[in-house]
Amino acid sequence: MNAYEKLKQQMLVEPKAWLVTGAAGFIGSNLLEGLLRLNQQVVGLDNYATGSRHNLNQVKNLVGPDLWKNFRQMDGDIRDLETCQQACHGANYVLHQAALGSVPRSLANPIDSHASNVTGFLNMLVAARDKGVKRFVYASSSSVYGDHPELPKIEDKIGRCLSPYAATKRANELYADVFARCYGLETVGLRYFNVFGPRQDPDGPYAAVIPKWIAAMIKDQQIQIHGDGETTRDFCFVANVVQANLLAATVQNTEAINEVYNVAVCARTSLNQLFTLLRENLEANFPHLKDRMPVYADFRVGDVLHSEANISKASHLLGYQPSHTIQQGLLEALDWYRQNL
Ligand SMILES: NC(=O)c1ccc[n+]([C@@H]2O[C@H](COP(=O)([O-])OP(=O)(O)OC[C@H]3O[C@@H](n4cnc5c(N)ncnc54)[C@H](O)[C@@H]3O)[C@@H](O)[C@H]2O)c1
Repeated sequence: MNAYEKLKQQMLVEPKAWLVTGAAGFIGSNLLEGLLRLNQQVVGLDNYATGSRHNLNQVKNLVGPDLWKNFRQMDGDIRDLETCQQACHGANYVLHQAALGSVPRSLANPIDSHASNVTGFLNMLVAARDKGVKRFVYASSSSVYGDHPELPKIEDKIGRCLSPYAATKRANELYADVFARCYGLETVGLRYFNVFGPRQDPDGPYAAVIPKWIAAMIKDQQIQIHGDGETTRDFCFVANVVQANLLAATVQNTEAINEVYNVAVCARTSLNQLFTLLRENLEANFPHLKDRMPVYADFRVGDVLHSEANISKASHLLGYQPSHTIQQGLLEALDWYRQNL
């Protein structure tokens, strides 16, 4: 039995109290669903800046009324310290996801990104410290690798940040490290690489590529690729991210704590390949996609050209083993979009 299977069995018999910030968002609602299915007590905190009550209702329907009773939602903003203190009260573990995502959003409005992603993050660290939280696991990002050329990415080799968003995530890592050193707070940072899956928002100017393209294909809209399509990403299904969070929160090995980890699959897919994969998977239900091709536009400022993670560190120290490749993840994600769009 692998580390994750063992952990899930143990969690079922020894439920704990968890705080998930950003619980109404894409990754947060998947963490919520995973934790409730394991019979855990969960508090969610969200201000609905980009998340939705609809996501919470969907989790409610999926887990059923008995498990839903173990959940309490707090509507509130991490930019307010008092709110963070209330949310951390009684929590054994914090899974901090609340932030404003998207590189283009941060370029358009760096002050808003800083307020939620850095000031809000610092508030959460202070609250977790003051309330005696056992461990603080937080969402960092592959964007911190910036202009470092090496592939696949290794945790201790980072370059210069290419966007305000990347700078906020780098600041998170610096603050978490300092809180571990100065106050003994146990922290673990998870550098997510292009996560996708059910409940990821396909709408709006800052939507991520996979949900945006699936929605556009289903609705028979044109798909635009920034650059020549040979840009690559390590696309990571959300179940892998849930696994990494639960392992990071509970790992006992002291060497594994106060570290940052890549969370991905260790595979590169180009945007052109992604387009073909999605089209092939959707063509049977949507014949208008036959022979469909994308259009190409300018490369976007702030984006990195190639991204692929070395996941050895998470594998050795956390016991992380991705359960889904991009193809396996896309099958599940596409099912969800077919039913929900
Ligand atoms: N999705 C990815 O590919 C990816 C990649 C790297 C890192 N991340 C990080 O993972 C985390 C979750 O991302 P996601 O994709 O689920 O995005 P999301 O936008 O779906 O979720 C973020 C949630 O945080 C909430 N939020 C934002 N600001 C808040 C505030 N000030 N107070 C309270 N709640 C607030 C939003 O309403 C939303 O529900 C973020 O920290 C993001 O930066 C995501």
